[in-house]
Amino acid sequence: MSDRAVRISQPGGPEAMRIEAVDVGDPGPGEIRIRHVAVGLNYIDIYHRSGVYPLPMPAGLGMEGAGIVEAVGDGVAHLKVGDRAAYASQPIGAYASARVMPARCVVPLPDFLSFEQGAAMMLKGMTVQYLLRRTLPQAGLQPGDHVLFHAAAGGVGLIACQWAKALGLRLIGTAGSDAKCRLALDHGADVAINYATENVADRVKEITGGQGVKVVYDSVGASTWEGSLASLRPFGLMVSFGNASGVVAPVPLSALSAKGLYLTRPSLFVHLTSQEATREIAGDLFKIVESGAVKIEVEQRYPFDEVQRAHREMEARTTTGSGVLLV
Ligand SMILES: NC(=O)c1ccc[n+]([C@@H]2O[C@H](COP(=O)([O-])OP(=O)(O)OC[C@H]3O[C@@H](n4cnc5c(N)ncnc54)[C@H](OP(=O)(O)O)[C@@H]3O)[C@@H](O)[C@H]2O)c1
Repeated sequence: MSDRAVRISQPGGPEAMRIEAVDVGDPGPGEIRIRHVAVGLNYIDIYHRSGVYPLPMPAGLGMEGAGIVEAVGDGVAHLKVGDRAAYASQPIGAYASARVMPARCVVPLPDFLSFEQGAAMMLKGMTVQYLLRRTLPQAGLQPGDHVLFHAAAGGVGLIACQWAKALGLRLIGTAGSDAKCRLALDHGADVAINYATENVADRVKEITGGQGVKVVYDSVGASTWEGSLASLRPFGLMVSFGNASGVVAPVPLSALSAKGLYLTRPSLFVHLTSQEATREIAGDLFKIVESGAVKIEVEQRYPFDEVQRAHREMEARTTTGSGVLLV
């Protein structure tokens, strides 16, 4: 049977995704061929599919997966044929039964993790690692500090709730329904705000005794932007790392001046530029999962053929936590 991959010929809705037969080929120097068992679903895949983040066409989709190393090119020392492995990385193209990719992006998958967990956690968990460990306000974060984290019941969000708790941080999570708020609380959020019905900045002020938070982690974008800035204390850090509700309009620098705020717009892939960096961030993630402080649950599983349904459900906000495609 030939291999299969999702392709789009133009940006569009879920129906733009077609499953095609592909010839995967052999790895060249520095590359491996991985046969996927599970592929991670991420909101960034929707930006790629819909054209929010433009790709040269035709294009594949997907940036996260786990499976078995099937072939290894010259010069690859850290992986061998038969290894269990996982990754979150460019180049795009994880929605496939197998693929050839640079080995430097791929790490061995520890035995205590299933393939589904590997596919569900690499991109989202390494994102939480660089956010909570490396994207910090002036003078850092101390145990007991409040942080505001939007979309706290999503894939990145549920990992962030647990990891923040393990660090002793008081995470104020937002979500779009009371049920999602309960889920964030069950995963370690200190407080949850339903941003469909409550004013976020007012609630944050109440919770923090009028002070505001030192840092906001905002992946919702357009609809949360104003409330996020209003929730920060003077010299606080605004971390804008996604745009599920739409891209944030260009920001006048004067928006930051009243409180002397700091602003950053980071991406995981700026952190994963070398094999060493990937190993370090992934290692930190594996350590906290092995400790039991962060549990990786797979909330949605879809057969590969149902990739269109998976995207419809993510966009309709009916999903929680992480989802995977089963190859
Ligand atoms: N920059 C980076 O390095 C990086 C890395 C990974 C992920 N991200 C970003 O982090 C975010 C979370 O990623 P994820 O894959 O874990 O997705 P997710 O959180 O599982 O899904 C996105 C969530 O955003 C919320 N949302 C708010 N307004 C929305 C709207 N108008 N339409 C759709 N959703 C809306 C929804 O939760 P509610 O229903 O609770 O509102 C939805 O479930 C995404 O924005 C993603 O692009 C950025």
